[in-house]
Formats: sequence, structure tokens, C-alpha cells
Amino acid sequence: MTKYIGVLTAGGDSPGLNAAIRGIGKAALSRGMQVIGFRDGFRGLMENRTVRLDGAALSGILTIGGTILGTSRDKPHRMPVGSKTMDMTDVIYENYRNHHLDALVCLGGGGTQKNAYRLAKRGFNVVTLPKTIDNDVAGTDVTFGFDTAMGIATEAIDRLHSTAHSHHRIIVVEVMGHNAGWLTLGAGIAGGADVILIPEIPYDVDRVAEDIRERNRRGTGFSIVAVAEGALPRTAAAEMTEVRAQADNADKKSDRKKAKARLEELERISVGNTLALSDQLEELTGLESRVTILGHLQRGGAPSAADRLLATRLGTACTDLVARDEYGVMVAARGEGWEALPLEDVVGKRKTVPLDHPWIASARQVRTSFGD
Ligand code: F6P
Repeated sequence: MTKYIGVLTAGGDSPGLNAAIRGIGKAALSRGMQVIGFRDGFRGLMENRTVRLDGAALSGILTIGGTILGTSRDKPHRMPVGSKTMDMTDVIYENYRNHHLDALVCLGGGGTQKNAYRLAKRGFNVVTLPKTIDNDVAGTDVTFGFDTAMGIATEAIDRLHSTAHSHHRIIVVEVMGHNAGWLTLGAGIAGGADVILIPEIPYDVDRVAEDIRERNRRGTGFSIVAVAEGALPRTAAAEMTEVRAQADNADKKSDRKKAKARLEELERISVGNTLALSDQLEELTGLESRVTILGHLQRGGAPSAADRLLATRLGTACTDLVARDEYGVMVAARGEGWEALPLEDVVGKRKTVPLDHPWIASARQVRTSFGD
């Protein structure tokens, strides 16, 4: 019996998605399976917008950035429809059944794993792949997209060195990552940033300024500060932890709502924090400071060789699982190979940088400041 696979990409795009789609599709076709793609994540599954992933559609996409299927952050159970937000899981289930799908493969980050798990509990045969430039999906050694983004951010830090050096300036470079510092840490180390600020290590701006002044005293007139989007000064980080706990433990709906509103406000403040940090460093050190926000550049363009390889490895592994009717799992990267992890072991967790991680230890040994 021919097996039918549906594929969708959800959440922020990430280099390597097309390599994964190609891996799933070509391996499936060679096993006599049929593959269709849904456009724009779960929204396309709800609206029944499909693409046939045959040999021609899968050809020539390995090296292309983004996703040929398109993506969105829409969730099946909270889908914006007109002016309302509705639970569209039943409609999605009907479309899934009408296409006679044996499996639905969802490519995404932490949010997508959660949405896929909800569908698995509803009776869908789901397999997921872990993608995100943030590298923060629990249970996998690494996610595809991370290596490419790290290369882009590293190159940016390389380039910022010569201009910072020429003008004897501080350059504060903001790297993506609201909750996890992998990208900033990896690119910061590889690019030789003098200060690395990540969400996992709340910083003291006076400490950062003192470390920069110390470099000056040693005769180095410039400094590169790599800061993650979600890095926070100690006071704000402490409040964030407190309010998060209030939101989690609130008995009354009104208290939970209040805590969540404050949490959103704090998150907004953290997003705009890079400019404030640069101003503070200028004031505290007496040096000129400039800001570079790398933003979506980090998600664009062709995937690196490592991401193409990883996405192909994980993509092809999907068809082994479909052939064995093994569902409700994420294909995690494990060493040179892969492992099928039950989705319940993946969702609701985030892989942040452990404080005793060897990368942090190495960075400290080359005198990188974490502002702590
Ligand atoms: O989750 C990946 C990520 O790239 C984060 O690092 C970043 O904060 C966020 O997405 C930006 O998302 P958007 O596409 O909504 O701008």
C-alpha cells in the first residue's frame, strides 16, 4: 500500500528547511511513498493549500534559503480567522483525513513541537524535525539553521572589528535569541567578541564598562560587545524571574493576567535594551559607541554545508519512521546519527546554555567578559 506523507514548515524560517524537505521527499519517493506540502504552516493545512512534492519540485532546492512551502506562526488551536481567534483543529483533522495522510511531518522550533504534540494527542500521526537558528529545542544535540546563522553572525563580528579598531569605538552587536544565548555565545567566541551578554547570565553594566576600561588601560582602544536580544541587566532579570513565577503560580485569573501583562512589558523593554546599553557604555567609559542589529540577516540566504548535511540526515530519517509507523516523535540529532524522541519529552522544555557549559569556560579563559 502506498503511504502518503504531508509536510509543513512552521514558526520562523531557518536555513536548511528546503534541504530537509528535499531529504524527506526524495527518501519517501524512492520508497514508493507520495508527498504533499502544505503552504504557510498549519494555516495551509487548515485552508487546504497544497503543493505536490514530486521529483521536479524537490530538485534544485538543497542550497536555497527560506522554505519553498512558506511558513507562519499560526497555531491550530488559536488560529486568527477574520477578526476572531478560533480553534481550527477539527477543520485541520478533516483535511488531513481527506488527503488520506499516513503521516504529517512538521518542521519547526519549540512552538511547533508543542502544536504538533497537540495534534498527536488528537489522533494525527505526527513526526517532527527540530529547526531554529536559536538552537534551543530540547532533546536534540543541535537544530538545523543554527550553524548557518552562527556563520553569518561570526562574519559580521569579524567585519565590525576593523571599523571599531579604526575609530577606537565600542560596537554593540545584537544577535538573535530572546531566551537562549547559543547563537551569541557561539558567534561571540568564534568572532572574538570582547564581551558576550546572554539571557542565561544576567549582566551588570558597571562590570561591562569596567572590563572595557581595563582593555583600554592595557592599550586596546576598541571593544566588541555581542549581546543577545534577550540578555538583561541583573535587576530586570530578577524582576522577570519573579513575575514569571507569579504568572505560573497565580490562583486567581486576574492576578495571572496582571503578571502576564507585566511580563510582556518587561520583554518589550528587553528588546529595546541594546540601544540603552550602548548609551550607558558610552557614558560610563567615555568612549564612542555604535550599535549594529543583525536581525533577520541571520535567518536569510543559503544554508551552510553543516546545516545541509544535518537537515538531510534528519529529513531522510523521517521516512524510516513512517515506514515503521512510528509516530508522536521528534527526530533528534544524536552524535553522527539520530534518535526518535517521544514528543512529550520535548515539549514545554527549552534548551538554554548551562552555566557550566564548556564554551563558557573556554571563553572566560581567553578573557571574554560576560558582565557578571
Ligand atoms: O525563533 C527564531 C527567531 O529567529 C528568534 O531568534 C527571534 O527572536 C525571532 O525568531 C524573530 O521572529 P520574527 O520572525 O517574528 O521576527
